[in-house]
Amino acid sequence: MLENVGLTVASRVILSGLTLTLTEARIGIVGRNGSGKTSLLRLLSGLVPPSSGTVRVDGLDPARARKAMLSRLGILFQNPDHQIIFPTVAEELSFGLHQQGMTKSAAQTAMRAMLAQHGRSHWEDRPVTALSQGQRHFLCLLSVLAMKPATILLDEPFAGLDLPTQSRLTRTFDALPQRLILITHDPAALAGYDRIIWLEEGRIRADGPPSTILPDFTAEMARLGEVDADTDLPD
Ligand SMILES: Nc1ncnc2c1ncn2[C@@H]1O[C@H](COP(=O)(O)OP(=O)(O)OP(=O)(O)O)[C@@H](O)[C@H]1O
Ligand SMILES: [Mg+2]
Repeated sequence: MLENVGLTVASRVILSGLTLTLTEARIGIVGRNGSGKTSLLRLLSGLVPPSSGTVRVDGLDPARARKAMLSRLGILFQNPDHQIIFPTVAEELSFGLHQQGMTKSAAQTAMRAMLAQHGRSHWEDRPVTALSQGQRHFLCLLSVLAMKPATILLDEPFAGLDLPTQSRLTRTFDALPQRLILITHDPAALAGYDRIIWLEEGRIRADGPPSTILPDFTAEMARLGEVDADTDLPD
């Protein structure tokens, strides 16, 4: 999917030399704050075009083929407030479905089914602003799941969610037939994954199965945690 991709923003190199073919069903992305995880996700989803190299999803450029991406890629952003565009829960959930070609009434039925399935039917008419940050995060996730995209990109989906919601979400993810690409700081969440990509300063530091990558990653994070200040980072 990625061929020698680089991303430079305001003359700063954010990502460089990334060549990746992402075909496994469960892919985890790890790395320190600022290592480029979210930037990689933005490239994959076509939200930003690469400064060099090419990004392809099923042979298409995701930055151009916006409509074709609706069924191919779903993204859960790190910050729900960058994602929500509608005033009520019902509108937020129905919009994507309608965009995908469902009639308004079919989208409404699917929206209600989604809320019911997750025990959130009472949210339907709520203003989004009346939800807590964790609840808004969960709403964004429901919007993505409702659209059933072939690949789901998740940027720290567990952040800010209470433990029961996290456990349920893990079970929901495990049961999904779709490909998941999950960014997380929690190695335990990636134990059963097929492949782990470890980013460091915009490059791939390691790429392989969790049994080889995660112990090294965990040890390195612990080692850095022992040091009082970051003297190794560019900013
Ligand atoms: N729009 C932008 N303009 C300038 N620099 C940016 C921009 N977006 C990201 N960066 C820089 O790119 C680098 C990678 O950021 P990115 O958000 O991809 O990191 P991350 O791995 O997702 O970090 P975190 O774990 O904190 O979410 C950081 O150094 C950040 O400062
Ligand atoms: Mg990030």
